[in-house]
Amino acid sequence: MIPQAFVQELLNRLDIVEVVERYLPLKRAGANYVACCPFHNEKTPSFSVSPTKQFYHCFGCGAHGTAIGFVMEHQGLGFVEAVEDLARSAGMTVPEEEAHAGRKADAGLDGLADVMQCATRYYRDELKRSESAIAYLKSRGLSGEIAARFGIGYAPDGWQNLSAVFSDYPTAPALAKAGLVIDSEGGRRYDRFRDRIMFPILGNRGAVIGFGGRVLGEGEPKYLNSPETPLFEKGREIYGLFQARQAIRAAKKVLVVEGYMDVVALAQHGIDYAVATLGTATTPYHIQLLLRQTDDIVFCFDGDNAGRKAAWRALENSLEWITDGKGVGFLFLPQGEDPDSYVRQNGREDFERLLSEAQPLSQFLMRELTGRVDMHSEEGRARFLQLAKPLVEKVSAKALSLMLRKRIGELAGLSPEEVGSLVGARQAAKPAVRRAVDKRMPQSVGRLLLQLVMLQPALAAGLDRALLDTRQADMQALAELLDFVQANTPGDLKAAHILHHFESSPLQTLLLDAARNLEWEQFSDEEREQEFAAVVDKLREQVRNRESRTILAEMQGKDFKLWTPEEKRLYLEQSRRDTVSPEK
Ligand code: GTP
Ligand code: MN
Repeated sequence: MIPQAFVQELLNRLDIVEVVERYLPLKRAGANYVACCPFHNEKTPSFSVSPTKQFYHCFGCGAHGTAIGFVMEHQGLGFVEAVEDLARSAGMTVPEEEAHAGRKADAGLDGLADVMQCATRYYRDELKRSESAIAYLKSRGLSGEIAARFGIGYAPDGWQNLSAVFSDYPTAPALAKAGLVIDSEGGRRYDRFRDRIMFPILGNRGAVIGFGGRVLGEGEPKYLNSPETPLFEKGREIYGLFQARQAIRAAKKVLVVEGYMDVVALAQHGIDYAVATLGTATTPYHIQLLLRQTDDIVFCFDGDNAGRKAAWRALENSLEWITDGKGVGFLFLPQGEDPDSYVRQNGREDFERLLSEAQPLSQFLMRELTGRVDMHSEEGRARFLQLAKPLVEKVSAKALSLMLRKRIGELAGLSPEEVGSLVGARQAAKPAVRRAVDKRMPQSVGRLLLQLVMLQPALAAGLDRALLDTRQADMQALAELLDFVQANTPGDLKAAHILHHFESSPLQTLLLDAARNLEWEQFSDEEREQEFAAVVDKLREQVRNRESRTILAEMQGKDFKLWTPEEKRLYLEQSRRDTVSPEK
């Protein structure tokens, strides 16, 4: 939406050294400037700013980018806000986009993002005009500053208000696809959100991907959320995470609450490391995403039955992903309170005191299970063991698993050997890893290998270059990557070095993309090795397949009585493969 030419002009005018220094003292080191990286914890500086390249780059954690990227990351701003901020500091005005009135809504992904951004602005502008909406937010104790930080807006009452900002309102497919309008059976189109406070939901790069809309006061449904769209997958997104990233790093923990209003009210009281799931249970995906940001998650639920149930779901979904050194805690508020009401009444200090007393996962687990049975009877203790077994067997963190089994023994009155014979440690992590991989990873073998080598360059040693069909872009990138890795000491290489080396190569985009795929980070080195080996096997199989197909194709024209024994063998092998797993 902001013209690319303007962004370029802005970057030309700014000096990245000067921009970074607004937030962080830099020291000169040769041609560059260095500092301790603001994006990860370190004692010796590996964060470097290059005045000639106008780029920053951390050799420790791989963070890198332009002045705009730095401000986004450091201040937790979206792209547009960062550009606006920097433009102001450089005395430039961001050109008013033709967006408003007259824009054509395109239905591709970029088009949807544009449409969402445009709607966000509209809702924000409308909030300024609506006395009732402002009064409502005030009555909930929110300041204008916090409302602005979360981009809160207001969708006015009325059926087709968005037609004021989208000239092609009646027909643009993007509006429906983005979930902003509903097409009625009679063919009339109307706004999904009417007379609601609008909470934009930001994706991991700060763009608006969905909305939660709350009625003012009482009314049903209390919240109306965007439907699932190509931009917005509810089980994967977390409200407030983009805004909270800095604060989560600083606090070294993340607080997970249930409601939009809880997140916003906590921020209002200075607790800005809170996030919320979007009215869904906490999924394993959420847990993994959060554990990537920080070592400690505290879930805060209402003290009622529903809250305990939700907490239990979160616990079950955490067991598998927790590693030793990471912690998951549970905080239950007094009956009838939610974080919003509690913090408003008792203030930040009191809330943070509660938070520091959150129950560790192990404690919550044991309390919950022992509470379900009669621990004074043999039958009750047997039932306890039976309940605990499947849960403990999910835990892959070795020390945690051991502690849990020890504690179970104490509670059930069994020796460690006896517990050991009943409740096992988790079996090899392989099945879970494979499952995770299958569901979430891109399917191309080349892409998978690229990602793994970017994260763990030493893996490159296990791959034979001859297997790579360099006519494919992924494979070509992989081949060049292998050459580079093998020419260096793979153990010392980090993704950042690799990206640096390929900075102006045509492969850069592919490599960047592979490096950004953080899904692999939660796997251990061994798990990645296993996966790498499995994918290489698959690649070998593909190559073998391709070779025999070529030969088979040549055999087509030949009388089968003339087939050589080798050709017959290939034919049989291939037809067996085709029956087992037909190739698409
Ligand atoms: P307030 O009542 O304004 O304090 O909102 P809250 O954010 O505290 O919400 P609450 O604790 O009642 O609910 C938690 C979350 O569940 C909300 O933030 C929504 O994401 C979701 N939710 C609540 N009510 C509804 C509803 O009626 N429909 C849908 N789709 N989601 C809801
Ligand atoms: Mn509430």
